[in-house]
Amino acid sequence: MRRKLAAGNWKMNGSSAALAELSALAAPADCTVVICPPAPLLFRAAEIGAENSLHIGAQDCHHENGGAFTGDVSAPMIADAGASYVIVGHSERREACNERNRDVRAKAKATWAAGLTAILCIGESLEDREADNTLDIIAGQLSGSVPNGATADNLVVAYEPIWAIGTGKVPTLDQIKEVHDFIRAELTERFGATVANDISLLYGGSVKPGNAAEIFQAENVDGALVGGASLKADDFNPIIAALAAS
Ligand code: PGA
Repeated sequence: MRRKLAAGNWKMNGSSAALAELSALAAPADCTVVICPPAPLLFRAAEIGAENSLHIGAQDCHHENGGAFTGDVSAPMIADAGASYVIVGHSERREACNERNRDVRAKAKATWAAGLTAILCIGESLEDREADNTLDIIAGQLSGSVPNGATADNLVVAYEPIWAIGTGKVPTLDQIKEVHDFIRAELTERFGATVANDISLLYGGSVKPGNAAEIFQAENVDGALVGGASLKADDFNPIIAALAAS
């Protein structure tokens, strides 16, 4: 069974006081709700999440388990803090930190080795979209970033068009459908229908309470990766409720 999943990416926002928002989130029985706060908040977030049926994720990890990597955090450390998910390959890291597909693949592997689920992000730039290259970019990111051995337990794929992140611009429902159907087909070709049908595919990029229900109408959209609107329970709860109702 494919999971309905709503994931909140707090990015570099939040504080210990902001963790009060977690207690105000309502996680329906048939939806997995994941909050990905900054690394210093993971441990406490996992404690609060456990009391509130929430899952906690990190926003990145190093591909090595430990060693002389000043400033980095490894997947086993994230697991030890009580988290169960890691976002890998977010476009902000692909761009600002120069992460390439092979780096994302190594991070996903490290995530799996630590027993965690990777929320692996892919998405085209506005330039790629305008040049009609979207599906080629998506195919390349999927084949380059997703390691062999993907299962519905260890992988969630998030389609996030870069031009839709934090901009208030959202693709049309047909554009979202086209890419999500394509991702499902690519995963089916590589991992077989049994595995691919159960992998949750999230849409991300300016998801808000006002547009979530429409986005969740698409058959191969199983949830959302939400940035800005995940910071406040008052914004995230209606998105979760729209997913539950979809
Ligand atoms: P946004 O961010 O919802 O603020 O557009 C989404 C993301 O970057 O995951």
